[in-house]
Order: sequence, then C-alpha cells, then structure tokens
Amino acid sequence: MAKVEIALPGEADADALALPVAQPLSGDGATVVDDKLGGRLGRLGESGDLRGDRGEAVLLHLNGELEAPRLVAAGVGKRDEVDVDALRTAGAATAQALSRVGGTLVWMLDESLPVPLPEQAAALVEGTILGAYSPGHWKSKDETCAPERIVIGNSDDPGVREAAERAAILAERANRARDLSNMPPNELTPHTLGEKAKELAAEHEHLSCEVLATKELDELGMGALTAVGRGSRNEPRLIVLRYDPPGARDDIVLGLVGKSITFDAGGISIKPSGGMQDMKGDMSGGSGTLHGIGALAALGTRVRAIAALAAAENLPGGDAFRPGDILRAANGKTIEVINTDAEGRLVLADALWYCQDRFKPKFMIDLATLTGAIIIALGHDNAGLFANSDELAERIAASGRATGERCWRLPLAESYDKALASDIADMKNVGDRAAGSITAAQFLQRFVNDVPWAHIDIAGMAWSKKDAPTCPKGATAFGVQLLNHLVQEYYEGK
Ligand code: BES
Ligand code: MN
Ligand code: ZN
Repeated sequence: MAKVEIALPGEADADALALPVAQPLSGDGATVVDDKLGGRLGRLGESGDLRGDRGEAVLLHLNGELEAPRLVAAGVGKRDEVDVDALRTAGAATAQALSRVGGTLVWMLDESLPVPLPEQAAALVEGTILGAYSPGHWKSKDETCAPERIVIGNSDDPGVREAAERAAILAERANRARDLSNMPPNELTPHTLGEKAKELAAEHEHLSCEVLATKELDELGMGALTAVGRGSRNEPRLIVLRYDPPGARDDIVLGLVGKSITFDAGGISIKPSGGMQDMKGDMSGGSGTLHGIGALAALGTRVRAIAALAAAENLPGGDAFRPGDILRAANGKTIEVINTDAEGRLVLADALWYCQDRFKPKFMIDLATLTGAIIIALGHDNAGLFANSDELAERIAASGRATGERCWRLPLAESYDKALASDIADMKNVGDRAAGSITAAQFLQRFVNDVPWAHIDIAGMAWSKKDAPTCPKGATAFGVQLLNHLVQEYYEGK
C-alpha cells in the first residue's frame, strides 16, 4: 500500500520527481525546475518532444540537477482548462511511465494552475495509485511495480496533506475492489468472498462481519437467493458487514446491498460462450459495496452503515433452479422463474428485504451488474440510476459527477409493472425485451417498502474492455468513490 507524505524533495530520498506541465509551456510552475535543468524542458518544448498534452508523460534521466535521479513531465493540457480530471490522468500517465521504477515519487504541485492545491494533490495522488494498478499475481513473470511512497514535495499545508491522504485511501480501496472483481471465479466463490469480507472487517475496529450460509438462509426463508445458488457446488452466502463508528448519530444508517454473483453462466438459461469469462465480474456490485464500506471505515467516517452482499454462483448444475420453478422469497412473495439468467434480481430481492427488515436503514442503495439492457441504453459512460426518492437520486447523481462515476436517472413507474404479471405466481422474474433495465428495477422495488432507495445498474460501468489511463482493462471498482463522496457530502455530521 502506497504511503502518502509531505516532505521536501531533498528529504524524501526520491526515485523520481514529477510535475504537471500545462500549455503554453512557458511561465508556469515548471519554470523553477527548468532553471535548475538549464532550460532542458524548454528545449524539449521547442523540439516538440514535450507538448503538455493531457495524458502525456515524458521521463527524463537527471545528472544531479534536482533531488532525484528522474523527472516526469506530465501534461495537463491548456492551462486555463486544467481540471481534476486532467490531473488524475497526469497522475496515471506518470505511474505508467514509472512502472519499472516503483520506490518514492515526489509530486510538485503548481500554484499557477486553476485547481486549488488540496484538490490538485488529491487528483495527482488518486491518478497515480489508480494508474499504477495492475491485476493480480497470476502471470509467472510480472515486472510492473507501483510507487511505494508518494510525497507532496512543495506544500506543508495541512489541507493538502489531508486531501492527499484521503485520496490515497480511496484509491487504494478502489484497487482492492478491482482485485476482487478481477479474481478468477475458481478462486473467488461465495465462500471465499465471505472470507475476504471477514478479513476486511478484522482490519477495522468498528467494522464487523457475519456470513450466513445455506442453513441460515433456509431458516430465513430466502428462497430466491438459495435457488440461484443451487446449480453450483459453491453454495450461496449472505455476507453482512456493519460499520458502527463511535460518535455517529443513531438514526442515520446507510444500507448498501451488492449483487455478488461470483460467476454468471446464466444457469439453465445458459449464456452464449463468447465473452462468458467476463461474467466473473458479476460480483462487482458486491466488491464495490464491500470496499465502499471498508473505505468509510478506513477514513473514520462518522456515519453508521450496513453492507449486505448477496453471493451465489449461477451455474446449470444437476440441482439447478429451472424456468417454470416458483420460488418463495423472504418477504413471502412468490416468483415464477421464466429465465434463470435474470438471477441478479432474485438474489437482491432477498438481500434488500433482509437489509431493510433487520437494520431499518434510513436509506438503501444497491449496486448491481443487473442488465445487459442498460448497456444498450447508456453505453459505458453512465450507470443507470433508479430511485423512489428525488432527493436521494439527485445526491447520487451529483456524487457521480464529482467523482467521475457518472449515473443517469431512468424512470420507475407503476405502468411498467404489468410486464411482470404472472399467470400463476405473484410475479415473473422477467418482462419482455422492452425496457429491460426498468422492469428489472421495478422487480427490485417490490422488495423495498417505504424506505428511500436507489438502485444503480452498473452492468456497463463495472468492467472495461479497453485500457484507460486510470484503469487497465477489467474491473473498474465503480461505486467505491461515489458512495464515499455521497456519505461525506450529505450525511456525515448532518
Ligand atoms: N449479469 C447479467 C447482466 C450483465 C450483462 C452484466 C452484461 C454485465 C454485462 C445479468 O444477470 C443477466 O444475465 N441479465 C439478463 C437479463 C435477461 C435474462 C432478462 C440480460 O441482461 O440479458
Ligand atoms: Mn444473468
Ligand atoms: Zn448476472
């Protein structure tokens, strides 16, 4: 885990210095450095080797002119357009330029940029840690490394320090959520996910974890969650975490629920095989809520929270549930199964009900890779947001804009409900093709009472098929930053 500190470059024993470089290249914070380098940066600019473009990172080797053997000039684009996103990208590009170096990286902030120094430090640190991420340890030969220490080299402002430390914690937790989602499904089962949750809880004094297995789930009447898990030898779990910090108000409890299908083959309604391997990421709602609540604990946030992870593996085994089965959920409602690939809403039905019934949260949010239809509607730019409360929806959308984890609201309305009418049970588990993401949300709503609730369909956001500066292809950890921003901005100390 990268440590974040504040120190002068000479005191830091730096392996590299880095600084944001804006366009035009002259007259900015880089000038001081350039003077010490005898105008080398300026000449790189004249020759076109350094342009200051967003995402550019030029690595120079030094001969003792500065307090480090290397310098990275990280482009942030036009000076008056520089924003946190440009700085995050600069952090990520720098981490990639230094992927064979590791060690200690010293960031020099630039007062002349239009972003205040605490936000600058936060964005650079966040970008560095997210951009240095590489998944797992499964390659026999993996030579990439991440900075072990990130130092802010030219500010001793406590506000800068706090912002940088916070950003580091959040980015580290996002990387841990990525780690879980990137794990292969033979290693990450509902059982091992429960073990990971217990390990996380053991790291934090005020976080506890309880894992319910088949016997307890049966006793609680969770016929929807257990049905989904029946086709696999890896039995389902309901993983419950409670964060109960001292000094938090009793009456504000945030309830988080995460879809945690450790592999979604579709069950008897089996999926086509092309791309099926990506369905190991179908527990990304769970990894986001798990490390979302972990980040709340790591930051010492004074808001009580619950996370419930509905974990199962959806396989077509000999005991698998089938189309035609009628299930009874924990709230007593019956569900006619039409398609076993619509399993997310089934496991969430029991988890939402349980979370609400047992913990009486002030509000509930579920994160779920729920429908392919949300990708048709919103692509990979926005998650789908559904809510029975305008206030909660607006707060989530605003937190999405602030963190770059964007959400776009779609309607919930009774008129969509008739698609779920069953001839024989209280409801079917799927509608027809029309408005597939909305009917899925309508299904979930049937398991929520009058508590303010939002459902975030992250099917298009949890997994990336392309490398991006702050995230290599694979799991993105969508939700970790959004949830933390939401809690801090609207509920902590309120
Ligand atoms: N896990 C999938 C949804 C999904 C699709 C996530 C693509 C990530 C990328 C979900 O369980 C599913 O299979 N949904 C079905 C629902 C349908 C059977 C009504 C779908 O979207 O096709
Ligand atoms: Mn499915
Ligand atoms: Zn699924």
